[in-house]
Amino acid sequence: MKVDGKDLRPIWLDEDLKTVKIIDQRLLPHKFVIADLKSVDNIIMAIKEMYVRGAPLIGATGAYGVYLATLNSPAKTIDDGYLKAECSRLKSARPTAVNLVWGVDKVLSAVFSVSGTSEKIDAARKEAEKIAEDEAENCRKIGEHGVSLIEDISRRKKGETVHLLTHCNAGWLACIEYGTATAPMYAAYDRGIDIHVWVDETRPLNQGARLTAWELGKHGIRHTVITDNAGGHLMQHKMVDMVITGTDRTTFTGDVANKIGTYLKALAARDNNIPFYVALPSSTFDWTLRNGIKEIPIETRDPDEVRYVQGMDQGKTIDVLITPESSPAANFAFDVTPARLVTGFITERGICKASEKEILNLFPEKKPAVL
Ligand code: MRU
Repeated sequence: MKVDGKDLRPIWLDEDLKTVKIIDQRLLPHKFVIADLKSVDNIIMAIKEMYVRGAPLIGATGAYGVYLATLNSPAKTIDDGYLKAECSRLKSARPTAVNLVWGVDKVLSAVFSVSGTSEKIDAARKEAEKIAEDEAENCRKIGEHGVSLIEDISRRKKGETVHLLTHCNAGWLACIEYGTATAPMYAAYDRGIDIHVWVDETRPLNQGARLTAWELGKHGIRHTVITDNAGGHLMQHKMVDMVITGTDRTTFTGDVANKIGTYLKALAARDNNIPFYVALPSSTFDWTLRNGIKEIPIETRDPDEVRYVQGMDQGKTIDVLITPESSPAANFAFDVTPARLVTGFITERGICKASEKEILNLFPEKKPAVL
């Protein structure tokens, strides 16, 4: 996407073919810093500490991690055992986004399909690059499909502003290009549809206030940052026409894991008869899980992310304690919205209802896997 006239992605391989470059998302919007990742350890750290975050981006980063593992093999040949162990370490960096396992396994099987050290390195690089390219294209298609929903509302409102609400950051920073939840927004804006986006701040790490607001602002899209608890009030007062979120893992039955607080937005949307859509590429479907609430692993993170808030003070990024020194905190990073509260999914193949039948009709090649 363009930022101040420059084409930017949140991840790319440097010309030296040895360094994975990323935007350090911990520091946005106040500082724009590009970080270099040169080893599997660097990749794991960047995922765990959330230099990179968001399901499709975590998947692509893990994929590049496998490439770095082949490049940095301690032996002249690339031992299968070594590579599998590095992949297991990569896959356990964060538990909820299924894209990580998907991306790592995809590159691993590309490596296993060839023999010879340089061939394996080459296969890993090409597959990682392909994953990034494919995810960018999938997000573009999500935008193409999703914009029809916004167009319908705009038509119904006779061109009046369409008010959208989103949670967390499911924008291009979380993907490769366009984003998932934001892709239809960018497409609508680019087609001249009058839109305005309510951006949930998304405590504790404020991905909405820091990242989504930054992204939308850079594209010129009108938006307003709101507290996480404001959505229900806005919906009751008809100030939201549609909710669009991303997801970190969605079961083939339609249960949606996404940033903590998403479930409450879905409840409020249902109570107020407001469409609640989830945008995702197929890499975010988990074709093995039936019951999201029982089976999707929910990450718990450092309680200090709740106890402290990060901000900018006189040019310096600082952490400020907001709880009593001795109060414990709990940091559940995701929740699961059951399929019954989801109006539909916007995928690269089109839009479908949140039901096993409709999801599998869109992805028929997955049917044998889940029967
Ligand atoms: O903890 P994060 O910032 O990685 O969580 C990200 C989200 O919950 C996003 O909404 C989700 O990954 C969808 S991103 C396209």
